[in-house]
Amino acid sequence: MKQDWWRNAVVYQIYPRSFMDSNGDGIGDLGGITQKLDYLQELGIDVIWLSPVYRSPNVDNGYDISDYQDIMEEFGTMDDFDRMLEKAHSLGIKIMMDLVVNHTSNQHSWFVESRKSADDKNPYRDYYIWRDGQENGAPPNNWGASFSGSAWTYDESRGQYYLHLFAPEQPDLNWENQSVREKVFEMMDWWCKKGIDGFRLDVISMISKVPGLPDGEKGEGLYGNGEPFYQNGPRVHEYLREMNQKVLSRYPLITVGETPGASVEDAVFYAGNDTHELNMIFQFEHVGGDPGQPGRYGKWDQKKMPLSTWKQILSKWQTGLEGKGWNSLYLSNHDQPRAVSRFGNDTPQYRVLSAKMLATCLHMMKGTPYIYQGEELGMTNAYFDSLEDYRDIESLNAYKEITESFGETPETVLGYLKKIGRDNARTPMQWDDSTHAGFTTKTPWIPVNPNYKEIHAQQQLHDPDSVFHYYRQLISLRHTMDIIVYGTYELLEPESEELFLYTRTLGAEKLFVLCNFTDKELPVPAGVSRDIHAKTRLLISNYQKRQDGTLRPYEASVYHFI
Ligand code: NOJ
Repeated sequence: MKQDWWRNAVVYQIYPRSFMDSNGDGIGDLGGITQKLDYLQELGIDVIWLSPVYRSPNVDNGYDISDYQDIMEEFGTMDDFDRMLEKAHSLGIKIMMDLVVNHTSNQHSWFVESRKSADDKNPYRDYYIWRDGQENGAPPNNWGASFSGSAWTYDESRGQYYLHLFAPEQPDLNWENQSVREKVFEMMDWWCKKGIDGFRLDVISMISKVPGLPDGEKGEGLYGNGEPFYQNGPRVHEYLREMNQKVLSRYPLITVGETPGASVEDAVFYAGNDTHELNMIFQFEHVGGDPGQPGRYGKWDQKKMPLSTWKQILSKWQTGLEGKGWNSLYLSNHDQPRAVSRFGNDTPQYRVLSAKMLATCLHMMKGTPYIYQGEELGMTNAYFDSLEDYRDIESLNAYKEITESFGETPETVLGYLKKIGRDNARTPMQWDDSTHAGFTTKTPWIPVNPNYKEIHAQQQLHDPDSVFHYYRQLISLRHTMDIIVYGTYELLEPESEELFLYTRTLGAEKLFVLCNFTDKELPVPAGVSRDIHAKTRLLISNYQKRQDGTLRPYEASVYHFI
C-alpha cells in the first residue's frame, strides 16, 4: 500500500460558528480559530476539517453557499482566512475545506440566473434540476426532502418546480450539465492554488440522480423514499473520476466524501486504492439506528442497536476495505449527538472513563480518525428542554412535521430532539469556567451547555489524567506506531453484547484492544486472556494499574506484543 502522508494523520473537525468568537458578536469566527491553533497543536492533530466558511445566508449554517470564493460575513474576511491558513501551516497543521457542491444556496448567482427563464438563451437554464409539475399541478415526483416536506418547490418566475434534497433554500445542482462540473472544478482549483490541503465533500454520493427521477416507494411517511434514485447514482463515480483527474490528482490533498447510503462495495470505488476518486468516505451504518427495528420517523425515533450489531458493522468496514481501500473513523460530528452521550455513559461517575474507552476503541482501528471539536474534552449532549433553545433547521422542521402531521405530542418529539438532534453537538466549545465558557463575551448564538463549569479545556490542559491528554496520547501513538496505521484487523468474541475486543497484526507484532462497554466488571474470555500473557506490555489504558483477567467498568486497555 502506498504510504501517502494522510494515512497516519488525525483530523480535527471545527464547526466555526461554535468554536471561538474573537469579535464579541456571539458567533465563532476565523479570528477565533486562529487564536486557538496553539491548542490544536498541543493536542497533536495534523489536519483541520473546517465546516463551511463561505458566504452564506445561513439557512443551514453555511451548508447553503451563495459564493464559493468569498467568506461568510459573520466569520470575517478572506484576509482573516489567509492569516488562519498561514498560521496553521506554520504550526504544521493542514486545512481541509468542507465543500458543498450537491447544492448551492438559492441566493447563489447561478440560481438567481437559472430561475429567470427556461429560455435557450439563458446559459444558467440547466444549472439546476427543473421539471414541470404533473397535470394536476402536483410536484414532478413524490420524493421527500431531508429537512421535511416535499423535495420540490414551485418557482413562480420560472413556472416550474426545482429539486432540493434538503431545504427549499438549497437547490440541487445539475451535475449532468458539463458546464456546472467545469465551474465547480475551476472553483476547487482556485482554492487549491490558494494553498488549502484537502476537501471534505458534502453528500457527494447524491450528485447523480437516476434519469427520469422515478417515484420512491411510499411507506407510512408523507413522501416516497427517493434514496435509491439519488444515493450512489449511475454517474457518481464518473463525476468523481473527472474531478480527480481535473483537480484532486494535481495537488497533494486529503479528500473525504460524505456518502449517505454507501455500502462497502460502493466504498471500494469511492475510496479504492487505484480507483482515482477520493482517499476515503464517511459511511453511516454505525451511526444509524438498529437496522432490525426501523423507526416510523426515520432517524428521530430510531432504536439503539445492540453492541454485537455495531461491532459487526464496524468490523465489516475494517475487513471489507483491507487491501482495497481506506476507512475514515468517526463517532461524532456536527450532525450527530455527542459520542459519549450516545455510545458511552455521560453521568459524572463514568463520563471520563467511557469517553476514553470510546476513543481507544476507535483510534486503534485502521483508517483515519476524525475528532469533532469538544470530543477531546468528553463534551456531552446539550439535552435542551425547550424548543426555544434549538436552532437547527432539521430539528425545527421535524418538530413541526411530526407534531402537526402525525399528531405526536410536543413532549414526545422534544424527547427525540434531545436524544438525536444535531444541536447537541453544536453548543459552544467549553474553553474555561468563565461566563459563556470563554467562547464569547456576548450572548452566544446557541446556549452553552450548563456543565461547562465542570467540563472545560483549561482544567483538562492542566490535568494529566484528562480526556484531552488521553486523546493526545492516542494521536501520538498513531504517529509513531506503524501497526496502528497499517496492521490488519480481526474481531474477537463477535457475539458479546458487553465487550468489544479486537486485534491488529503487522508481521509478528500484535495489538490486543479490549474495551468494556458496560458499568460492570467483567471477565476477559479465557481464550483471549491466554494470549495476553506476561510478555505483552500495556500500551495505553484508561485505568492506572494493569489488571489481567477482568475488565473494570468502561475499561479500555491495549496490550502490545512484539
Ligand atoms: C451534510 C452536512 O453534514 C449537514 O450538516 C448538512 O445539513 C447537509 N449535508 C446538507 O448540506
